[in-house]
Amino acid sequence: MVGSGAVAANDGWSSRTAFLMAAIGAAVGLGNIWRFPTLAGENGGGAFVLVYVVCVALIGMPMVLTEVLLGRAGGGHADAVGSVADVAERSGRSRKWGAFGLIEVIAAFFILSFYSVVAGWVLNYVFLSGGDVLSVVLAGNPLSPAFVGQSQAEVTGMMGTLFSSPGRMIALHSLFMAVTLGIVMLGVGGGIEKAATWLMPAFFVLLVLITIYGAFAGSFAEAVVFLFTPNFSALTPLAVNEALGQAFFSLSLGSAALITYGSYVPARVSLGSTAAMIAAADTGVALLAGLMIFPIVFAAGLDPAAGPALIFQSLPVAFQGMPGGALVGLAFFLLIFFAALTSSISLLEGPTAFAMSAFKLRRGPAAILVAVLAFAIGIACALGYNVWSDVRPLAFWSVFENTNILDSIDGVTGKLMLPLAGLGLAVFTGWRADRRLVEAESGLSGATFVLWRGLVAWLAPVAVGLILLFGLFPGLL
Ligand code: PHE
Repeated sequence: MVGSGAVAANDGWSSRTAFLMAAIGAAVGLGNIWRFPTLAGENGGGAFVLVYVVCVALIGMPMVLTEVLLGRAGGGHADAVGSVADVAERSGRSRKWGAFGLIEVIAAFFILSFYSVVAGWVLNYVFLSGGDVLSVVLAGNPLSPAFVGQSQAEVTGMMGTLFSSPGRMIALHSLFMAVTLGIVMLGVGGGIEKAATWLMPAFFVLLVLITIYGAFAGSFAEAVVFLFTPNFSALTPLAVNEALGQAFFSLSLGSAALITYGSYVPARVSLGSTAAMIAAADTGVALLAGLMIFPIVFAAGLDPAAGPALIFQSLPVAFQGMPGGALVGLAFFLLIFFAALTSSISLLEGPTAFAMSAFKLRRGPAAILVAVLAFAIGIACALGYNVWSDVRPLAFWSVFENTNILDSIDGVTGKLMLPLAGLGLAVFTGWRADRRLVEAESGLSGATFVLWRGLVAWLAPVAVGLILLFGLFPGLL
């Protein structure tokens, strides 16, 4: 399986379960727990959720298989560019198809830069809630609500305090990036797999526990109605566009992670069912995150459409009014931290694998190079909330006219790069790659194979092409 020596023979997943944990870890992240509930809240709940699930089933899931498959078929290349180029060459096509892999690597690099900043905000709340828990434990009342004795304004103000402190934001960003880097430097088996096999089970336990807690202490029925009753009048074309984009981001499509992780999968593992499990788990977690967050939001009488402040401002206020709120708050932010970490690891691994083969570097120096550069860009993102809050890097482009540095990078990667890479690889796999090679690698056969290939060849290019078009020219809608 190891052809060019790009993958050390002994470095890869030790089992299918290990790959599943790592890939689900890559997929489950801030996208599920921070962005999905935010978007669902802003777009009226049920209708958005329904469209999202349809997007995942018809486009996301087939594309997950496409990317993992291209990675493993890539003749021993661990990097996204070499893998795609290799499959192209073996299909009698130009190696230039690898360019779509390169777009993925670049997208991952930029996503990593701002992802680490937002994960730093999460760390901020881990520390705040940790301090809070420590004080209630010392006071002999561990089951106390959160932030007792502080006013609601003080609690919501914690976010403003963080944003107005560039030093604190950058320190948290560096801490998060350093942890990510440390794990990636330990290698695929020794670092990434170990981290995923510890963090993901811990994540799931916390998720289920907090959801159960919310079901008893919060307004569960109201949340279920909100999330699962489609109100189609809230469903604007822009929301549909948003749902498809979110499906890409959440499944880690278009950003080298799945191709790179796929290249470490042993030949005996059947990819079709594995890809389905990754997509299903990611979507299940997004829905559970909604069921975890909204009962608490509704019980406290807060606005589900609060936007990005929902988890950083609304929830801490809600925890103030709940029995055991201090502990639950800490558990909640730890859970997000675990999810973010396994995702940032995958964001660093893609560009690192590329740097290793493109610049003939060993893993350590390659990972450091990528992390340091992404860290530097992240600093600019953090400063965009204070010192550089007037900076609008894409002011010339109407879509991003009023967008700060972090959101501009988020916008260009999410609205342009991920869909572009997805479009290219869907066309490649559906039309240009050798059919027998693809079929053998997919582990699918008969009608399932025909269905999957049909979705990749026809539906994905059209739908993804539309995300690109409307994402960039919303005036068309
Ligand atoms: N899917 C991750 C999330 O939902 C983010 C991510 C995107 C990770 C791209 C890797 C690659 O948070």
